[in-house]
Amino acid sequence: MKSIDWANLSFGYLPTDYNVRITYRDGEWGELEVSDSEYIPMHMAATCLHYGQEAFEGLKAFRGQDGKVRIFRMEENARRMLSSSRGIMMAELPVERFEEAICKVVKLNERFVPPYESGASLYIRPLLIGTGAQVGVKPAHEYLFLVFVTPVGPYFKAGFKPVPVCIMRGYDRAAPLGTGTIKVGGNYAASLVAGDKARNLGYTAVLYLDPKEKKYLDECGPANFFAIRGNSYITPASQSILPSITNKSLMQLAEDMGMTVERRAIPIEELGTFEEAAECGTAAVITPISQIDDLDENKSYIYTPDGKPGAVCEKLYNKLRAIQTGDEPDVYGWVTVLD
Ligand code: PLP
Ligand code: COI
Repeated sequence: MKSIDWANLSFGYLPTDYNVRITYRDGEWGELEVSDSEYIPMHMAATCLHYGQEAFEGLKAFRGQDGKVRIFRMEENARRMLSSSRGIMMAELPVERFEEAICKVVKLNERFVPPYESGASLYIRPLLIGTGAQVGVKPAHEYLFLVFVTPVGPYFKAGFKPVPVCIMRGYDRAAPLGTGTIKVGGNYAASLVAGDKARNLGYTAVLYLDPKEKKYLDECGPANFFAIRGNSYITPASQSILPSITNKSLMQLAEDMGMTVERRAIPIEELGTFEEAAECGTAAVITPISQIDDLDENKSYIYTPDGKPGAVCEKLYNKLRAIQTGDEPDVYGWVTVLD
């Protein structure tokens, strides 16, 4: 293995040794198989290619100071994948099978779990696709569940540094009663044009508004949104956003720090009242937002005039990372320590 520059990893694909796969055929899930191929042989009429029967997940494993590998909240990802499967009529993989696959693939690739000091982690990408052939618009009879891993650094180049995001009303990533609450590829395809436009204008992401009325804050392309005002942690409740496991964890941590958690519709007018704003997710961790530019209304909201992350974001970030790496005790049972 060429030596990896752990401290300077970006959020990209680096090949590792193995991936794991489970096939669904004749109404049942088969045995877990280990593969060293980066490719999937597939029927050209597979439903994932034509009708978007595809869901994925994202979670991380961390190496602690004690050298042990910890996987963060994998049961939550297993459950969310079940919800995605129901949402687009794919075969449902039991939680225990999901967890077995995650532990196996991390163990097989343990040498790719970045060292504690590097701040990097092992990103775990489960994927579920319809592989059975259909020409009519119908769910497949066959599915493939696959998990690969890759060592990653921060999703946004800056790491834990404030970044600008923008609002553009000309694009939606999901429909009001569509697939926004599940993690299916179509939502991400729908976000590519707006994401590219935003990046070309110097923004790291788009902050989407609710697709029905464009009155409320929804989420960012690859992450949930939260804000801090006084002693409150404020985050959108919406029928078109992904229930983020990071956000759920931060809500718990904020509450335990004595903050009030407000999970509710957030009118866009409130943007001017927040003291801190941030994106949160597995890949984004907590990425503070320096400013939000509303490109249609020509307004700017600035949250980090000194260019530094806000104090509450920083406290939440440190707490979350400490639990993930095992620096602080796992009082919530969020962490699986690999044998
Ligand atoms: N929202 C979207 C659209 C995402 O893709 C992600 C990433 O998974 C998140 C939010 C954050 O979710 P989680 O914290 O479970 O990674
Ligand atoms: C994650 O945070 O795991 C994501 O899936 C976000 C993005 C890379 C799609």
